[in-house]
Amino acid sequence: MKKFYITTPIYYVNDEPHIGHTYTTVAADILARWHRLLGERVFFLTGTDEHGMKIFQAAQNASQDTQKYCNEIVVHFKSAWEKMNISYDRFIRTTEKSHISSVKKVLSELHRKDELYFSSYEGLYCIGCEKFLTETDLIDGMCPDHRVKPVVHKEGNYFFKLSGYREKLINAIQNEDDPNHFEILPQGRRNEIIGKLKTGLEDISISRANLPWGILLPFDSKQTTYVWVDALINYISGINYEEDETNFKFWWPTDVHLMAKDILWFHSVIWPAILIAVGLAVPKKIFAHGYFTISGQKMSKSLGNIISPRELIDEFGEDAARFLLMGAFPFGVDGDVTLKNFKLMYNARLANNVGNLVSRVFNMVEKYLGGRIEKPAGWSDEVFKQTRLAVEEIYKKFDELLIDASQEKIIELSDFGNRYIDRQEPWNLSKKTEDTEKLKLVLYNSLMMIKELAAYLYPFIPKTSEKIWFILGEKGKMDEVISSPQEPHFLTGTSLVKPSPLFPRK
Ligand code: MSP
Repeated sequence: MKKFYITTPIYYVNDEPHIGHTYTTVAADILARWHRLLGERVFFLTGTDEHGMKIFQAAQNASQDTQKYCNEIVVHFKSAWEKMNISYDRFIRTTEKSHISSVKKVLSELHRKDELYFSSYEGLYCIGCEKFLTETDLIDGMCPDHRVKPVVHKEGNYFFKLSGYREKLINAIQNEDDPNHFEILPQGRRNEIIGKLKTGLEDISISRANLPWGILLPFDSKQTTYVWVDALINYISGINYEEDETNFKFWWPTDVHLMAKDILWFHSVIWPAILIAVGLAVPKKIFAHGYFTISGQKMSKSLGNIISPRELIDEFGEDAARFLLMGAFPFGVDGDVTLKNFKLMYNARLANNVGNLVSRVFNMVEKYLGGRIEKPAGWSDEVFKQTRLAVEEIYKKFDELLIDASQEKIIELSDFGNRYIDRQEPWNLSKKTEDTEKLKLVLYNSLMMIKELAAYLYPFIPKTSEKIWFILGEKGKMDEVISSPQEPHFLTGTSLVKPSPLFPRK
C-alpha cells in the first residue's frame, strides 16, 4: 500500500496560534485527508517547538518553571487544532524523551563522522527568529520581522561543516538522477534557493554555551543544541527514529514538508545537509506557501494585528473557516486578508453556491417527489461529462499541491450544478405530466452531483461533507467515489433527510 507522510512546521509553543499557523495546518490536513480518501496509509505530523532562548525568556517573564510553562501553554495549539478538526496522527513536543534521544543520536552521528568542529563566533542574534542576522538584514539596526535590536552573541560553539554541502545540494535539487534528489516547490522559491546557494554557503553553529533550556550535546555537557537543529529532527523523531526502526523505515522519507517561505532555507538547505551527513534519505518534496498579511502588514504579537482561528470559527463556523483560509489566495504566493473579504467569499462560494445547490435540490425532491430517491428508468448521463472533466482537474491540482485551485474546481462543479438546474427549470417540468420522467432525471442527476461534491469537498469541509452524506441517506463510502473517478456514482439511499441550512447567509 502506498504511504504518504506529511508534516507542518512545529510551532513555537509560546505563540498564540493565529491564522498563519492555521493556514499551514489546514493545508496539511486537507492533503492528509485527500490521501486517506485515495486509500493510502497516511501519517500526518504536527507539534510544538519548545526549546531555545525565546521560550526560556517567556517562561522567566511569567516567573514559571520552563517545562511547566510549556505544559500549560501547549494546550493552546492542541485545542486550536481540535476546533479546526485537524486529523493529525501525532502531535510531537520537542521536550518529549523520545525526541531528545533522537536529537542526541543525530548529534552523536555528526560528531562521529567528523562533521562538527569547535570554534568561537561573534554575531548578531535575533531571539524572535532564533537565528543570526547579518548587518544587511537589519533595518534601522533592527530585525525587520520582530522590530527589535538583535543581541551580540559571542561564545565558543560547535559548528556543522555545512559549507562542504553546497555543490551536493545544488546537484540534489537540480538533478533528478541524483541519489539525494528532492523537489522545492513552487518553482520560484526553488530558483531563489539555488541562487542563494550559488553565492556561497557558510558553516553554522549548532550549539549554545549559555542557554540552559535545550538538549545537552551528547559529547559535551556544557553546551545545548541550537533550537533549529533540535526542531528539524522532530520530523524523524515523530516517526520513532530512535526506538522503532521498522516504523521509521516505513515512513521515512517525508513525502511533503509544508511551511511558509520564512523557514524554507532551514528546510531545504540545512535539513537535507544534516540528513546526507548522517546517511539518511532526504525529503521528497518541500513546499513553501506564501505569507498572510493583514492590511499589508505582517501579522505579529508586537503589532497587535493577529487574527486568531477562534474569530473565524465564531463568525463562520469551523468548516467555513477552513475553506476561507484555503481560498484566501493562491497557495504558494503571498496575500492580504481582511474579514470583509472572508465574508464576501463565504457568501459567494458557500452560502450562495454549495449551500444553495443542496437546499434547492432537496426542497424540490421533497416537493415534487415526496423526498424519495429513485434511479429513473431511462437514466442518461447528461451531466456526467462535466463532472468527469472537473474531477480530472481536481486530481491534477492535488498532484501539483495547488490546494486552493483544487478547492476552486469543486466550487466550479457546484456552480455548474446550479446552472444545470436553472437551465432545466424543474419547477416548469413539474407542471406537465408528460415531463415527469425528465423531472425525475434532472433531480436524480442533481443529487448525484451533490454526492460527488460531498466526497470531493470532504478534505476541505469534513463535517459539512459528512452531513451532506447523511442527509442524502448514503450507505456507501466516500472513498469509493474518489477511487473510481471515471465511473458514475449512483445514489445508494432511498429517501432524503430534511436538511438545516448548511451555510446561512451572512
Ligand atoms: N519553530 C519554527 C519551525 C520549526 S520546524 C522544524 C517556527 N515556528 S513558527 O511558530 O514561527 O511557525 C512558522 C510557520 O508558521 C511558517 O512557516 C508558516 O507555516 C506559519 N506562519 C506563521 N505566520 C504566518 C503568516 N503570517 N502567513 C502564513 N503562514 C504563517 O518557525
